[in-house]
Order: sequence, then C-alpha cells, then structure tokens
Amino acid sequence: MLNIRPGGRYIDCTLGGGGHGLGVLEASGPGGRLLGLDADPEAVLTAGRRLEAYRERLVLAQVNFSEIMEQVKGTEFYPADGIVMDLGMSSIQLDTSGRGFSFQRNEPLDMRFDPSQELKASDVVNRYTLDQLSNVLFQFGELPRSKKIASAIIHSRPFATTTELTVLLRKLLGNQRRKTNPATQAFQAIRIAVNKELENLESGLNDAIKILGSGRRIVVISYHSLEDRIVKGVFRKAASDCVCPPKMPVCVCNHVREVRLITKKPVFPTPLEVLGNPRSRSARMRVAEHV
Ligand SMILES: C[S@@+](CC[C@H](N)C(=O)[O-])C[C@H]1O[C@@H](n2cnc3c(N)ncnc32)[C@H](O)[C@@H]1O
Repeated sequence: MLNIRPGGRYIDCTLGGGGHGLGVLEASGPGGRLLGLDADPEAVLTAGRRLEAYRERLVLAQVNFSEIMEQVKGTEFYPADGIVMDLGMSSIQLDTSGRGFSFQRNEPLDMRFDPSQELKASDVVNRYTLDQLSNVLFQFGELPRSKKIASAIIHSRPFATTTELTVLLRKLLGNQRRKTNPATQAFQAIRIAVNKELENLESGLNDAIKILGSGRRIVVISYHSLEDRIVKGVFRKAASDCVCPPKMPVCVCNHVREVRLITKKPVFPTPLEVLGNPRSRSARMRVAEHV
C-alpha cells in the first residue's frame, strides 16, 4: 500500500519492534532511507538493534509523533515518500516491558509509552475524581456502567499493581461471555488517557498528511473503533474540497483537498493472517494518497 520505491524517504511513526521498519528498508534498498520514531525509548533501542544492518540508511528518534512536523521540517524526510502509523502498544510492551500494559501480568500501574512523562496509570486510578475516572472509562473504554465502576475503584483505592485492579474489575464485571474481556476495555481506557493517544493521533495525523510528497501515501493501522473513527474523520476531511457545516448556503471555508482515499472502507486482515498472528484480529487499515 505504501508503494515503496528504491531510494525513497520513508517515516515509520511507530517503530515498535521494527517489523514495518525492516520491511520498508528492505523494499526501498539500496538507497532508501527511513526515519523511525517511537515515544518509547526502549522501542527505539530494540528496533535499532534489529535494524543494525541498515544503520547507514536509518535515522532514529525517541519522539511522540504528535511532534512529527518539528522533527522533520528542514530534513531530507520533508517531503516524505511514505508514512506509516501502526497505533497503540506493541507486543513487546504488552508482554515484557514490565510497565503494566497487560491485565494478565502483575506489574506496577504505569502504562506510559514515554517513561519520562509525569502522568502514570496509578495517577489516573488513584487520584482522578469520580467524574474524571468515569469519563475515562466511558469515553476511552466504552464501558457501560462506567460511573459505578469508577465509584467502586475510588472506594477500594489505592491500587499499586495491575493485578489488584484486575481482581476488582473481575469482581465487578464478572467473567461475562463477551467478545472482549471487560478488564481489556478498562485497561485500554486508562492507557489511552495516560498517553493522550486520541489527541496525539489527531494532531500527528493532520501533520503527517502535510509532510507527504505529491502522489505519496500514508498508511494507518488502528486497533479499535475510537482510533479508527479519528483516522476516518481526518482522512475524510483532508479528502474534501469543502468542510463548511452542512447548513451553509455557500462555501466559505476555502478548504482544499489534500488527499484521495485509496481505501474507501477499512481493510481487515485475512483469516489466514489472524491464524498466524492472533493479535492482528482487531486491526484495520486505512490508506490515503497526497494529491
Ligand atoms: C503497534 S506498535 C508498532 C509495531 C511496529 N509496527 C512493528 O512492526 O514492530 C505501536 C508502537 O507505537 C508507539 N507509539 C504509540 N503512540 C505513539 C505516539 N503518539 N508517538 C510515538 N510513538 C507512539 C508505541 O510506543 C509502540 O511501540
């Protein structure tokens, strides 16, 4: 989907374990270059080791992609020949970071992508007011009865570890027969709040579109409907010649279309891919091309 060509300049905004980065470097050889970003310094280190063989063609930076414009302005990566965003957390963060991303492990309540940031999951859980906490659970976890859950958390706090929180969530929500475990949704909600994921996505995506060269593509993979709604909205707006409110009799916005949509609907993994990589099951990809 990125239409990678030899010698191109590409940006991976979410380097993670370096899988996409490796694919881009291989396909853009011999002269292609990659700027790899991640908010998590450990991801930058791990991916750097994995991509060691390509270090001549690789630039790495520990940075939030909401700052992509500042990062690339005046560099060889502006304009870029292709940009990829693979949102959320990585398998490494979930399985081995020890930073509390998984409700199946007993770890401190942290969940920061960038450990130098102040706000941690323990602050959200132990300090937020009832309204703040129930808003997080409702808006970012789409949990019904969010006020009741928030109130129960407040009555049982402080929480130090993921297991302490999971035990309470299980008691409250039971092991209901649902597609996703309710603890998954609560953990997702807290993680999104800690890392300001939706705000950063909206601003980073808007800037990334502006960084693309003409005819070049941006590929975004999201993992839940909240992310996908933002990607869809930003792409739709960027693909439109007018963004005036529908009641406006004449256009006054002077908006100019920046992209065309390559995927009218999100693309889902095939059953075969899900079989080989079960964590891909909730992925959906959208692609736009700069005009
Ligand atoms: C799903 S993983 C990416 C996996 C990667 N594509 C690979 O092939 O291994 C998402 C990564 O994006 C990072 N991330 C999430 N939001 C970010 C943001 N706003 N800015 C920078 N990195 C971010 C996370 O720290 C995580 O390492």
